[in-house]
Amino acid sequence: MLSQDELKQAVAKAAIEYVPFDCIVGVGTGSTANFFIDELAKIKNKIRGAVASSEASAKRLQSHGIEVLSLNDAGDLQVYVDGADEITRHLHMVKGGGGALTREKIVAAASKKFICVCDASKLVDVLGKFPLPIEVIPMARSSVARQLVKLGGQPALREGFTTDNGNLILDVHGLQIMNPVELESTLDHIAGVVTNGLFARRSADVLLLGTPDGVKTMTF
Ligand code: 5RP
Repeated sequence: MLSQDELKQAVAKAAIEYVPFDCIVGVGTGSTANFFIDELAKIKNKIRGAVASSEASAKRLQSHGIEVLSLNDAGDLQVYVDGADEITRHLHMVKGGGGALTREKIVAAASKKFICVCDASKLVDVLGKFPLPIEVIPMARSSVARQLVKLGGQPALREGFTTDNGNLILDVHGLQIMNPVELESTLDHIAGVVTNGLFARRSADVLLLGTPDGVKTMTF
């Protein structure tokens, strides 16, 4: 029986197949993305560099001698590889467990292909069991929280955490997200919300799912 880490490693290896020669790669954040960074290090002479979705990923990339470029300098990217906290068969995701959702959404939006790498535990029928992360401007913390309660959620401040952008995270419990595209837009329209962790309007293009029977490739 493979461990969860072995499943993550297997999908990270599989994602390397999606990295074109001589490209700048968009790189996500989290434990699965870390495995991907370690795999990327093995082919670092075949890529021009990477754009990171967090300070943590940038540090790990640099520790392997991979050049980290700003998105402004890199322009649009061919591929973005990242994990997720939950994903459906429609390839809609909840992300932001590591608090990097804003930069993740920006780099994903600038990328032609989003390859999501997950172990099998992340595949769900309905999003929302994993509390939905929302990055908020600090002065709007309470007013955003009240709006979230009106939408049926129970927001909890992520204690002692500040994002790379200097903001706060509210983790919203108790949502059963039947229409992720609509909810993503609704949440984005609350004043003070920087980004919400629903990645439904720009969903993944390919899911590499690590299962005990091997890596499954899913598209929608
Ligand atoms: C970070 C994220 C991650 O992709 C998500 O939390 C999954 O992380 P892991 O690969 O460690 O399970 O969105 O903000």
